[in-house]
Amino acid sequence: MAVAWEAVMALRRRGRERAFGFPLELPLGEGLLTVTRGGGWRVEPEPPAEVLQLLALYLSLALVPHRHSFVLAHLAQSLDGRIATSGGESQWLTGEADIRHTHRLRALADAVIVGAGTVRQDNPRLTVRHCSGDQPVRVVLDANLALPEDRDLFRDGAAQTLVLAAADRVGGATRLGNAEIVALPREGERLAPAAIRAALARRGLYWLFVEGGGVTVSRFLAGRALDRLQIALAPVILGSGRPSFQLPEIPALSGALRPRVRHVPLGDDILVDCVLS
Ligand SMILES: NC(=O)c1ccc[n+]([C@@H]2O[C@H](COP(=O)([O-])OP(=O)(O)OC[C@H]3O[C@@H](n4cnc5c(N)ncnc54)[C@H](OP(=O)(O)O)[C@@H]3O)[C@@H](O)[C@H]2O)c1
Repeated sequence: MAVAWEAVMALRRRGRERAFGFPLELPLGEGLLTVTRGGGWRVEPEPPAEVLQLLALYLSLALVPHRHSFVLAHLAQSLDGRIATSGGESQWLTGEADIRHTHRLRALADAVIVGAGTVRQDNPRLTVRHCSGDQPVRVVLDANLALPEDRDLFRDGAAQTLVLAAADRVGGATRLGNAEIVALPREGERLAPAAIRAALARRGLYWLFVEGGGVTVSRFLAGRALDRLQIALAPVILGSGRPSFQLPEIPALSGALRPRVRHVPLGDDILVDCVLS
């Protein structure tokens, strides 16, 4: 499995540095991985089933074209659509396989984005630890610049960290601990997802992983700023708690989003992988 993940990472690094030339060929253990234009791929001789499953889950994410803006959001939720208890406890709703998957998404991304609520509640590090890979830039959405400087990711120096805040709140501030403050125009109470994408692209950050929480993912979804949405469904019913999604009401079923989906088993959980673009 480690060999297959290394191949995924090698492709991703190649894509970060320059446009892909097809067909792409890469050694994979004793075999050869060939990727054709359009994303078709094969490994010869055929490897074990778990290697094929890993490649099926990650190859398309590693093959995002050079300097192409791409945003994937992931949420771990209960069967009844909750990402945390009412008190904010969410670690861990899903099992080890989904946690490893989250770290792999971080490793694939140029930047990992979270909302202020998650930083306040979880004090996350947002680093790659459960797989090999490069550390993404960490991006916190805190329009009002209200988070305290004592959060670990503002102090640990483990990866470059940006705080995106509304220009009218930033004043002359340039840093929050080790993090750089980036001023963006306010759209009402919020920062527009499209403006967030554009500001990060100007810094060379194109492949964005929105890791939560529900409010942040909902705003990207409502702003039609997601290319992929992955929901890891845990076999758990919370009955109450913080919701995955809060979206504008739709008057009729015909107005529902109906993405193309595939289902991937992740240990005891099921990953619902939705293609939105
Ligand atoms: N199960 C999972 O996958 C998962 C993942 C991550 C977190 N969590 C849990 O989820 C909870 C936190 O999630 P949450 O939904 O309450 O909050 P959240 O999404 O982490 O943070 C929401 C806040 O972030 C800021 N924000 C987000 N998008 C913004 C935008 N476009 N423009 C400006 N500001 C923006 C706003 O802060 P202000 O209102 O302060 O301006 C907003 O209230 C925690 O309990 C955490 O443990 C679960």
